Amino acid sequence: MEKARVGLIGLGFGSEFIPIYQAHPKAEVTAICQRSKSKLNKVGDQFGIETRYTDFRDVLTDPNVDFVHINSPIPDHAPQTIAALKAGKHVMCTVPMATTLDEAREIVDLVRETGLKYMMAETVVYAREYLFIKELYDKGELGRIQYLQASHPQNMEGWPDYWKDMVPMHYATHVVAPLMAMVDGMADYVSCFGSGTINEECASRSGSKFAVESCQIKIRDSDVAAHVWRFLWDTARQYRESIDVYGSKKSFEWQLITDENPVLHTANRPEPEIAERVEVPDYAHRLPEEIRKFTRGIVDEDHLSFVQGGGHGGSHPHLVNAFINALLEDRDPFPNVEQSANWTAVGICAHQSALKGGEIVKVPDFTRR
Ligand SMILES: NC(=O)c1ccc[n+]([C@@H]2O[C@H](COP(=O)([O-])OP(=O)(O)OC[C@H]3O[C@@H](n4cnc5c(N)ncnc54)[C@H](O)[C@@H]3O)[C@@H](O)[C@H]2O)c1
Repeated sequence: MEKARVGLIGLGFGSEFIPIYQAHPKAEVTAICQRSKSKLNKVGDQFGIETRYTDFRDVLTDPNVDFVHINSPIPDHAPQTIAALKAGKHVMCTVPMATTLDEAREIVDLVRETGLKYMMAETVVYAREYLFIKELYDKGELGRIQYLQASHPQNMEGWPDYWKDMVPMHYATHVVAPLMAMVDGMADYVSCFGSGTINEECASRSGSKFAVESCQIKIRDSDVAAHVWRFLWDTARQYRESIDVYGSKKSFEWQLITDENPVLHTANRPEPEIAERVEVPDYAHRLPEEIRKFTRGIVDEDHLSFVQGGGHGGSHPHLVNAFINALLEDRDPFPNVEQSANWTAVGICAHQSALKGGEIVKVPDFTRR
């Protein structure tokens, strides 16, 4: 394979990746798929893509597609991934991998049986903030990590209707992933508390009344514990996907309000000098020249109504590049299938724990290699 040929399934969020693939020197968009013909044609015309499908099963039989990038609604992620792997296609899929442990197990088994590659397209572990903290840690500047925490409050009012069927911890990968990845750890077991009460419609549709779910994670073979929390409804707070990392020498704390800068705390300084705001650098230099511009929001001259890139901490071109390179170099992507399953399973197990009043729930072994 000299170029990896992608079939994109789901063209809402998914369409943001089209110009990145088209600009990547080793990628080619050979097909696009989404249910309504009018939007399909609009996107196809906009980006000059001839092969268009309204049924994702047709992408799976297209011999010109090496891998699918799935950006369909959450309930479709696992069934479409399983069908794609069975059809012999590699898969990159947006988060979460699945909403049940059985589906996650089937995906892991299929990848192990077929040798195909699977990567959950977790934006946070390629966002500039994560890359900055990770670099500080890897260079030894944070010292020993003592504690990790992350939050993802987000009010889903006005989002697609299926969110009313979701519980907070079934979309927890944006908080679990950066913490596990920071220490190269795998979650072992969890204890989660539900807190507060949401409106009756969302409670009855999702089968859970908790407004906030707050989960402690035990990381296997590590002395570090992690805490994550989330809500979807009826709780007042600006959206954020935050990461806090506490080290023996330095700690990173996320800003409270969007557009502030985060804070770096340095140990053993006079109290007023411990905390300082820091500017997080961009990591576009790690990418091929042709797609570097996509870490920042750009409006390109050919598609004026379409702001490309810049979303989710500039992670989109990094995700594309990571999977393309894994395919062409025939190696594991990051995250690989077990990491993707482990991060997803934490949320599923956390909700089970919350329903049992915080009882410890073990994250299943199939999520660790
Ligand atoms: N930071 C992130 O990682 C991030 C951010 C935004 C969205 N997402 C994920 O991306 C996914 C899509 O989000 P969205 O906001 O674009 O949703 P959306 O509902 O606006 O769009 C879904 C797209 O999938 C298509 N689709 C639906 N069912 C399909 C099917 N059976 N076959 C083929 N296409 C189908 C629709 O036609 C549409 O193009 C969601 O799972 C969401 O969680 C992730």
